[in-house]
Amino acid sequence: MTSPLAGKRVLLIVSGGIAAYKALELVRLLRKAGCGVTAVLTAAGAQFVTPLSLQALTEAKVYTDLFSLTDESEMGHIQLSRAADLVVVAPASADILAKMAAGLASDLATTLLLATDKPVLVAPAMNVRMWLHAATRANMAMLAARGVAVVGPDEGAMACNEFGPGRLAEPPAILAAIEAMLAGPRPLSGRHALVTSGPTHEPIDPVRYIANRSSGRQGHAIAAALAALGARVTLVSGPVGIPAPAGVALRKVETAREMLEACLAALPADIAVCAAAVADWRTEAAGLKLKKTPGAAPPVLNLTPNPDILATLSQAAARPRLVVGFAAETHDLLRHAGEKRLRKGCDWIVANDVGEGSGIMGGLENEVHLVTEHGVEDWPRLGKDEVAARLAARIAQVFA
Ligand code: CTP
Repeated sequence: MTSPLAGKRVLLIVSGGIAAYKALELVRLLRKAGCGVTAVLTAAGAQFVTPLSLQALTEAKVYTDLFSLTDESEMGHIQLSRAADLVVVAPASADILAKMAAGLASDLATTLLLATDKPVLVAPAMNVRMWLHAATRANMAMLAARGVAVVGPDEGAMACNEFGPGRLAEPPAILAAIEAMLAGPRPLSGRHALVTSGPTHEPIDPVRYIANRSSGRQGHAIAAALAALGARVTLVSGPVGIPAPAGVALRKVETAREMLEACLAALPADIAVCAAAVADWRTEAAGLKLKKTPGAAPPVLNLTPNPDILATLSQAAARPRLVVGFAAETHDLLRHAGEKRLRKGCDWIVANDVGEGSGIMGGLENEVHLVTEHGVEDWPRLGKDEVAARLAARIAQVFA
């Protein structure tokens, strides 16, 4: 199959940051797929990669200066984006995102971004606190509202020795996002979906925790299925042993409270699917390992209710248009699921029977009933990937 990138042209803006070196790998992947690349390097970007390396890989002139007379005589800066099918900013620093949100045109890159009528994809990369700062949140919300697409950032260890969201998405994931944008619109293109997945771990002491048997398979499969239909997906996952699907922004959490915080930070979203098996209770975690004292009574765990993430999202001021919850029940499945839908205030409940012998919790298959405002749809027993694809297709109908 020919790549949707063959014969296309990307205008790649490389802004400042240690991740700028990864732009070189992105150029290599784009060229390999048959895509032409015109590179624009900001002054800060040029501190991290050289115009010469970009020129060698793009096999084309690299643009760096807004007021270069020779560049202007060869090709005016507005033409640069006219010749492109897509404008990609990778890495996109906090600074360039702020300038984009404010509509500044202070150098060649920002002038092009203000002047272009082509779709724009940004791949943010910055320190975790800069990414989580209210100013960057507001800038990202503004850019999303203007239709700017986003890939990443990933979560992980950073060059600045901190950990969290802010790492540039890996070049193959940026390539996949570019392919998706150039392949034409899909049913959920331009929509942001938030998916929770996996269990939560509630610490008892530094070595013990309260948990459950959820594998995260169903939630992760839903994240992948929504991304395949074009949605930008934020996957908030508790501790699981499976990798995140390619092309989704992963937020790793441990506890229910962290999961809620990550979900609220990911808003606004058009769709929320709460597939996580959130621990209903937590206990006050001891700072030191609890020891057995001969003759003494075993410790008593005082349980406190955890926040209900599904209910909170359903009632949030920035409520996603469609909120979907799960109900795992061992008896009276449909009655409990119907009650849960009303109690939590969500739109749909995906109900499944996790009674002993069903093999669903932690297994590969699922047999679900979709409870909506119109009634109950019984689905056959399917692989978790198929349940996910079917649910994503049902969600796409709402946004058609
Ligand atoms: N859920 C949540 N936050 C919680 C508990 C549950 O977001 N603290 C979500 C789950 O992700 C799921 C739905 O709520 O989508 C139902 O979870 P479930 O544990 O089955 O229901 P509970 O509300 O905990 O009710 P019960 O345990 O009494 O069945």
